[in-house]
Amino acid sequence: MTDIDTPSRPTIWTNATLLAPAGVAAPAPGRGALVAEAGRIVALGDTADLPATLLARAEVVDCGGRLVTPGLIDCHTHLVHAGDRADEFERRLAGASYAEIAAAGGGIMASVRAVRAADEDALVAAALPRLDRLAADGVTTVEMKSGYGLDLDAELRMLAAARRLGRERPVRVVTSFLGAHAVPAERRDDRAAYVRDVVERMLPAVAAAGLADAVDAFLETVAFDEAEVRAVFDAARRLGLPVKLHADQLSDGGGAALAAAYGALSADHLEYTGEAGAAAMAKAGTVAVLLPGAYYLLRETRRPPVEAFRRHGVPMAVATDCNPGTSPLTSLLFAMNMAATLFGLTVAECLDGVTTAAARALGLSAEIGALEPGKRADLAIWNATRPAELVYHLGADLLHSRVFGGRADRP
Ligand code: NIG
Ligand code: FE
Repeated sequence: MTDIDTPSRPTIWTNATLLAPAGVAAPAPGRGALVAEAGRIVALGDTADLPATLLARAEVVDCGGRLVTPGLIDCHTHLVHAGDRADEFERRLAGASYAEIAAAGGGIMASVRAVRAADEDALVAAALPRLDRLAADGVTTVEMKSGYGLDLDAELRMLAAARRLGRERPVRVVTSFLGAHAVPAERRDDRAAYVRDVVERMLPAVAAAGLADAVDAFLETVAFDEAEVRAVFDAARRLGLPVKLHADQLSDGGGAALAAAYGALSADHLEYTGEAGAAAMAKAGTVAVLLPGAYYLLRETRRPPVEAFRRHGVPMAVATDCNPGTSPLTSLLFAMNMAATLFGLTVAECLDGVTTAAARALGLSAEIGALEPGKRADLAIWNATRPAELVYHLGADLLHSRVFGGRADRP
């Protein structure tokens, strides 16, 4: 039977504390109702006002007063990778710097060696527990980058593994091609040729295979310069792919302004971004993706310019940046806590950062990220009644259940 033959039966979540989009009045706490049909939200209101005829034909889920938010969105991860870099962490604790370790052949290249040695099955198997851990925090959409392959085959394999993860679990996977993450060791004597390869061969092949939803790059003294990033972004533009940028993480390289100049969906990290960069992002509608896990693990002291983002009206997202080098973090709730305690975000900003702003950072505002009629019924139902509880706990298991496209599951 096809969907057309099957009249879909609505599902209603009743007695909920609904997190309404900014500026929209929510029903009284513990009294909200959310109606979904065919995987989409169709109505929100007060449980007491539900028509008896609708209740009679619907499946009813009593939330018992629980907080219901949109399914959370982790909009920046390197979830697909192999191996770990605990040894480098230990060396950093003993005084070595991230740049020194990278110069000695560790850092990103250590993960590249591990990924090149792994087949697609091994990449999927390594990433699945991380994905399950994110889902256990109510995450229903995860962005995943390539960038630890740095040759065509390994980059394609990473992205294919990401797509497969989205088929193996009830979660939406959004991919970004990050061929411009680092110049691989074997090509350091001709970096221009590597960039040409990314632009002329890797990116078109990845796009033709339908494996990239966006194109990312790492603008940094230890990675790529502005001209190189421009070449990659120009190629993305020719292929009709949106761009995003690892920008101003370790130094102010003008990354925020460069991302804005290309109308990037997001600029990410941004610890060293200045006032002009924030203003340019506001004008371009580029989202600031804050990654407190990397800030914390690298013991960075310079904080992203949150005040300037507020003043200019730059939407702020919060993500795990889950990666083996600088942020081995698989809890988006913990990232929210760090965004609050380390960067000074409010509870409302943290919630917005993993829902509405994160959806925008992926170009998916029309689809996900808010409890609104027309959006997909991706929900997180919490053993909590106030949004502050999601930000306040350190490593608690707060999720009651998750709903993906109208279907409930418990990860
Ligand atoms: O987002 N900034 C660049 N890329 C990753 C870390 C890369 C690594 O060390 O593996 C990040 O922090
Ligand atoms: Fe990253």
